Amino acid sequence: MPVTSPIRIDAHTRRVSLDVHDPAFFRNPHLTYAALHAAAPAFYWEEQAQWFFAGYDQVNALLRDRRFGRQILHVATRDELGLPAPEPHLADFDKLEAASLLELEPPAHTRLRTLVNRAFVSRQIEGLRLEIAALANRLIDGFEKDGKVELLKAYAEIIPVTVIARMLGVPVEMGPKLLDWSHSMVKMYVFNPSHETQLEANQASAEFAAYLREIVAAKRRQPADDLLSLMIAAEQDGERLTEDELISTAVLLLNAGHEATVHQLGNAVSTILSHGLDPAPLFADPAATSRTVEECMRYAAPLHLFQRYALSDVTLDEGIILRRGEKIGLMLAAANLDPRRFTDPLAFRPARDEGPHLSFGAGIHFCIGAPLARLELALSLPILFQRLPSLRLACAPDVRDSWHFHGLERLDLAW
Ligand code: HEM
Repeated sequence: MPVTSPIRIDAHTRRVSLDVHDPAFFRNPHLTYAALHAAAPAFYWEEQAQWFFAGYDQVNALLRDRRFGRQILHVATRDELGLPAPEPHLADFDKLEAASLLELEPPAHTRLRTLVNRAFVSRQIEGLRLEIAALANRLIDGFEKDGKVELLKAYAEIIPVTVIARMLGVPVEMGPKLLDWSHSMVKMYVFNPSHETQLEANQASAEFAAYLREIVAAKRRQPADDLLSLMIAAEQDGERLTEDELISTAVLLLNAGHEATVHQLGNAVSTILSHGLDPAPLFADPAATSRTVEECMRYAAPLHLFQRYALSDVTLDEGIILRRGEKIGLMLAAANLDPRRFTDPLAFRPARDEGPHLSFGAGIHFCIGAPLARLELALSLPILFQRLPSLRLACAPDVRDSWHFHGLERLDLAW
């Protein structure tokens, strides 16, 4: 029986109906994205009651378009926009968001990003090469004799959290707790989080912030050779990061620093194995490895959606009229599969060299951790396949029911 997408598209009105929790969609969104590219790359999603964009050029342009922002409350009040008042049960979560680089717009974003960039330099990232390789090898030493492994828990989750904790100067033994806090917080970014999810995210935010406050205080007393100490010292035009900005940025780096990378690693391994490719040529040299990593990111992106607010009334080329404060959805993973941009986009071709995907975003919020994520993938993938050349899928992996964050429930491998 042919596999089809569960989407309903009225190409004439560009109205679309789609249930994000339909397994036929979230298990394999590629088919749905192909249907959208063919019939309505810009569309009104009825269940979400807003406009979404799937085309590469549209998504790329809208991410850079200064008429849109991740935030709206810097140009309008809640009253003006008819937004509900902040919820007291989300106060700790909101406090972290309020000073978060990812949630700010210029000029606040520019100032904060410059200060963080000053600390987050590529020299520091390159210096991690040996350490990441040693960690990957050590983890494989631990499970090699077993002949099987659940890769997410034993490998993919450990590498990014250990690396980002080390970089920031947070004790690596805190890894499991950081993962718990982070998992609770990112659940807030799906459509309509439940009340229970909100309470858990708020609790995690309070504990995470309190923990980091102690660490920051200790680094103030005794600076070390780490990112937190650098951020404390970073200064531009006589300005420094405030305490709230430091805490929010540290939480953001710790969360963003592993959530996406874990699933990108899992998605990449599963994609390579399910296509039955010989891994040796994929990682034959640094150039081949880099192309393989980029193709895995294009084809099996972990983050499928980011949203923006219209900062003023805007009419787009497509004839779409947006009012100030309206949200739009930018489908990064769909843009990566646009047939107008990539040849035969649903084919996984590790040697492909057709220019950038949009998995790291674009414009002022472009992923600040991209060099680190690329380095982690360019080391942990080849090391895994070289150490375990007969690696295979032990069973077909289950995809998680969380469309925004496209990742696997678990990844059981054998050799
Ligand atoms: C494969 C892994 C990763 C992917 C796919 C990814 C993807 C993204 C995307 C799409 C954005 C832009 C969001 C938007 O425009 O609304 C972003 C922003 C960001 N990412 Fe990543 N990321 C990854 C890894 C990392 C790592 C390892 C770090 C930190 C060490 C990190 C830190 C950040 C930060 C701080 C921002 C906010 C930047 C800003 O708002 O100026 N990310 N990431």
